[in-house]
Amino acid sequence: MTIVLREEPLRSEPGETLDPQNWDELRAQGHRMLDDMFDYIAHVRQRPVWSPIPDDVRARFRAELPRRPSDLAEVYREFSDNVVPYATGNVHPGFMGWVHGGGSAVGMLAEMLAAGLNANLGGRDHIPVEVERQIVEWTRAMFGFPQGASGIFVTGTSMANLLAVLVARTAALGQSARQHGIGEGGALLTAYTSKAAHGCISKAMDIAGLGRDALRMIATDQCHRLDVAALRRQIAADREAGMRPFLVVASAGTVDIGAIDDLVALSALCREEELWFHVDGAYGALGILSPAIASRLAGIEQADSIALDFHKWGQVPYDAGFLLVRDGQQHRDAFAAPAAYLRRETRGLAAGSSWPCDLGPDLSRGFRALKTWFTLKTYGTERLGAIITRTCALAGYLEARILAEPRLELLAPVQLSIVCFRYRAADTNKVNGDIVIDLHESGIAAPSTTILDGQLAIRAAIVNHRIDTCDIDALISAVLEFGARRASAQDE
Ligand SMILES: Cc1ncc(COP(=O)(O)O)c(C=O)c1O
Repeated sequence: MTIVLREEPLRSEPGETLDPQNWDELRAQGHRMLDDMFDYIAHVRQRPVWSPIPDDVRARFRAELPRRPSDLAEVYREFSDNVVPYATGNVHPGFMGWVHGGGSAVGMLAEMLAAGLNANLGGRDHIPVEVERQIVEWTRAMFGFPQGASGIFVTGTSMANLLAVLVARTAALGQSARQHGIGEGGALLTAYTSKAAHGCISKAMDIAGLGRDALRMIATDQCHRLDVAALRRQIAADREAGMRPFLVVASAGTVDIGAIDDLVALSALCREEELWFHVDGAYGALGILSPAIASRLAGIEQADSIALDFHKWGQVPYDAGFLLVRDGQQHRDAFAAPAAYLRRETRGLAAGSSWPCDLGPDLSRGFRALKTWFTLKTYGTERLGAIITRTCALAGYLEARILAEPRLELLAPVQLSIVCFRYRAADTNKVNGDIVIDLHESGIAAPSTTILDGQLAIRAAIVNHRIDTCDIDALISAVLEFGARRASAQDE
């Protein structure tokens, strides 16, 4: 082998790092930034929920790669002028779209501290990993899982569900599937979820190499809960046809209307049929913290795995998805992969095995656990549970206002804190779709839409802890105003 030496030696200037020459200046700038962000959160109600992005602002983010340094104050001014006013808006109490949490100033501070430590939680022996293990332990206790359960932070529940499918796949096929691929045995695997399940489940089947066709979408009852009898029949039919049922994914809070499947019946069926029982609790699982909701999650403690988002009802800033697995060994079996450069020791920084990288595909991992640890410790689970209860009460308030208003129509039973409704009009799907866009553009409120039985619904997901009755009242008034305008425009 020929080693080519450089002709010119590389020179290093003494003291040339990215740290500031003048820490006092950076400190003053940093304090301004922090104060501004506190002000932003404290006074967010005075802003529009969302603002359309002007062309010139969008164009600023098509700029050339910066080769020369800029002053931090100048970069921050650009952020203040061009990023802050055009953010998603989910910090705002008028934001009720999709299923977004509101975050908190405490979570923001923790995120800043985590960035300062710049810890890599792929592995090794340091307290940030212990902080994540602490959350695993707390989550294990929340759901009554046994000792030996394992867990891991991921971006969101889409990823947590994917990991769960992979753990269940390896449990069904054994380690050889990781080496040789899923093979003929894998081609026979079938999984089950309801028609109301989130689309990331079928995406997970696709990414796991099992294919979306192998996911049977079981019918639901009127309340959008998986029809357990239909599931039983489908499993029997698949066995009869020579398929290998291996996984049931239940929903604890469906994305459309917040329905909770019958987790007791499903866990019993999975035990009987020897199937992996996974619960997609992205939105609803943290309802376990609310005395008003917890009993409706009965059966979740029997799951083989649970996916959930601390960034939704847990109010942790994005992102903080989480997967909990009952049998930690099965979890490790799906992902652990030895490598010379990741050698484990019994002493020193490379000690502390097993490492989080043994529990998922990521090696480099940020310190998501810290903002969750700060949130759980600062507020406590009772207060977080009370917030969850309150969002459900606010959904009840919105439901009552809809039922009392003849121009509005409720489109689905309110089960947790999601309310689906519409303005009564001739071309109802068009009118209601336009109403939602009008709401966004007005900056008054930001619900989203979904389709229920072919009908477009205005969908208000009350997840953000800042939402109050005045925000619900503002939503109703604006829907009525925009609805009347849209309907009369149709008549003309
Ligand atoms: C039931 C359900 N599952 C999965 C997801 C996906 O979660 P994430 O957006 O955190 O990936 C969501 C998101 O709203 C959801 O409501």
